[in-house]
Amino acid sequence: MEISLKNQVAIVTGASSGIGAGVAKSLASSGATVVVNYSSDKSLDKANSILKEITDAGGNGIVYLCDVSQENQVISMFQDVVSQLGTVDILVNNAGIQKDAKFTEMTLDQWNAVIGINLTGQFLCAREAIKEFLRRGIDTKRSVACGKIIHISSVHEIIPWAGHANYASSKGAIKMMMQTLAQEYGADKIRVNSICPGAIQTPINTNAWNTPEALNDLLTLIPYNRIGQPQDIGNLAVFLASDMSDYITGASIFVDGGMTTFESFSTGG
Ligand code: BGC
Repeated sequence: MEISLKNQVAIVTGASSGIGAGVAKSLASSGATVVVNYSSDKSLDKANSILKEITDAGGNGIVYLCDVSQENQVISMFQDVVSQLGTVDILVNNAGIQKDAKFTEMTLDQWNAVIGINLTGQFLCAREAIKEFLRRGIDTKRSVACGKIIHISSVHEIIPWAGHANYASSKGAIKMMMQTLAQEYGADKIRVNSICPGAIQTPINTNAWNTPEALNDLLTLIPYNRIGQPQDIGNLAVFLASDMSDYITGASIFVDGGMTTFESFSTGG
């Protein structure tokens, strides 16, 4: 079966850089019309350049400004996308940030900022997406499912991470939200899954790969011995958004070069 997302509309949050940009390009190259969401005026140019890459390659899309932690902005984004593009078939809940700090030094602002975007943002977007999926119903010319949600989680939904309690907590919570939604809306033919990236070479983790020493340290955590690329995540997003994966829902799929095999246990234990 050929993977085609033709006639489908996908919203990708946080798509002006990193994993979101990679996912947006992959979905567009499979035929979806992609909403390249960006979070502030500062990232407009980057969002436009991702859209240009999409259209230069023959794809379709729009850019859309929305801070996913703000309820009114999320509601407006879904309303505007439905009025401009007809509906939403696929949500990739990607927008995410880190505000790292030792736990006893972590401020409430750092905690709230990360939970606000990484968790509340995914809640707000998933809620509006599911409402739109149910309003539209199944249209088999688009997909045999009524709608697909892909949460971008992390290996840190299962690997504890000292100095990143806010981030790891947000990702652990995404796992339960994803599985609960898959359970609650399975009978409506809405599929909900998570992609759990390991170390992917993006701006969020520059410190982990921008010197040979840092990269060397990082690779000791990755049995497959390379850093991931946004395309690695994009490939799985296309599959999870397509009818090829129609029997997959409620799953966390790790794309991490084996990071979750706990490489440090390869000797000893
Ligand atoms: C984090 C990265 C980190 C990776 C592996 C991701 O979720 O955002 O900063 O490199 O997990 O630890």
